[in-house]
Amino acid sequence: MSTFAERKPLTIGLAGFGTVGGGLARLLEENADLVRRRTGRDMCIRRILVRDLEKARQIPLPAGAELTTDPVALTDDPDIDVVVELIGGIDHARVLIDRALEQGKHVVTANKALLAEEGLALFQKAARKGRILRYEASVAGAVPVVEALKESLAGNRVTSLMGILNGTSNYILSEMGSNGLDFDVALKQAQEKGYAEADPTLDIDGFDAAHKLILLVRLAYGVNYPYAALPVRGIRGLAAQDIGFAREFGYRIKLIGQVREVRSPAGEDCPEGPVRLEAGVFPALVHHTYLLARVGGVYNAVRVEANAAGALFFHGRGAGDLPTAGAVLADLMAVAREEMPNNTGYVEEDLPTAAIVPPEEWRSCYYVRVMVEDAPGVLRDISGCMAAEGISVAQMIQKADEGAGVPLVFMTHETTAKAMSDALQRAEAAGLLREPAVYYRVL
Ligand code: NAP
Ligand code: HSE
Repeated sequence: MSTFAERKPLTIGLAGFGTVGGGLARLLEENADLVRRRTGRDMCIRRILVRDLEKARQIPLPAGAELTTDPVALTDDPDIDVVVELIGGIDHARVLIDRALEQGKHVVTANKALLAEEGLALFQKAARKGRILRYEASVAGAVPVVEALKESLAGNRVTSLMGILNGTSNYILSEMGSNGLDFDVALKQAQEKGYAEADPTLDIDGFDAAHKLILLVRLAYGVNYPYAALPVRGIRGLAAQDIGFAREFGYRIKLIGQVREVRSPAGEDCPEGPVRLEAGVFPALVHHTYLLARVGGVYNAVRVEANAAGALFFHGRGAGDLPTAGAVLADLMAVAREEMPNNTGYVEEDLPTAAIVPPEEWRSCYYVRVMVEDAPGVLRDISGCMAAEGISVAQMIQKADEGAGVPLVFMTHETTAKAMSDALQRAEAAGLLREPAVYYRVL
């Protein structure tokens, strides 16, 4: 192996100089000695792609770097070894990465939206070109779960994975629950702290967590789960009163991304029964004694169940400049060490499509809040709608009339999503509900 003195610095074309790009520039300077000791090379940023050359910047331009608005100045510069894509979004980022790979550059990105929705062609291109395409920062910020699934747990069969995958939503839920903040105020704070996506609907409607879950499913199971097929529900409109009622039952409400193997009954052609994946993003009640319930603020967590390791729990900051930049820098260090590409963790270029459990078949307990008239027999009628679909009520709270009716809040025993939806449609059709029912899964 060549010595440090002989090795050329790794030259970076940095696309994006916002929260994460700025954090990376800062960290490259702060940790320059560490990078040299761990990789035997220096790293330097040669060019930085931005939209607006005149914009005031929080972070000074790194020595020797120049700003540009021309992506080709990164992708086609023969002196640049690696393009770091931190501009976000789909179209411009796809063109940039595709061109960078075409020009023989390695690529590091934090862009889960692109990799989840349209990443397959890019992974295939990277494989054909023998280039590294790394993306640790795209899932759960500082939490090193991508490499853990790809390398450290490669010898395990993952049976389930569940986590809090969006820092902005978790920040909002924590601030609403612990400090009584309004949803909009908490979202604004998350934006000011640099946690939210440029389009925060991706965070609050669950799509950002969904992008990350798609990447985790690919890593854990070696299959493509089509993004469009993933059931996604975010935290928009989640009411403070439901956070309060959930607490009375001993639960916290969290935005959860989950995938688990479901083995169907054995058939003649498949003695063990075929394996399908049950995957989705949804707000859920998590019992306060579970570790996931204690993950607060911008923190993310991923719990993995694997056949050899058993249960593992990863926890850390899910967003923010330096936490995310640290993950980008680790990827750059792997590039500097010229590691063999192992982009998806599987040798096939074409991963098979996942067999999927339809959401109506999912089984869980439920939290339900209905607003009903405070009149004799209403409780019996609501219970009757549940019983007609085979649903058994486990616990119940009834509050005083609030003008719009009485909130009747209950937890059910395990049932299917279809039975729950049918029961609530019965209640609606019977004229029992003063407002649409609110219901969440219970983990
Ligand atoms: P950001 O603060 O909005 O910064 C985006 C940067 O990209 C800006 O410097 C912007 O230029 C530049 N840019 C955007 N579109 C461009 C285009 N079409 N051409 C040239 N430059 C363009 O975004 P961020 O929060 O750093 O996020 C970047 C990526 O990291 C996203 O994919 C995001 O999902 C991901 N990520 C973010 C976090 C986080 O905590 N923020 C964590 C993990 C992953 P101007 O400065 O001139 O506007
Ligand atoms: N907007 C994302 C979040 C950034 O809040 O989790 C980290 O991926």
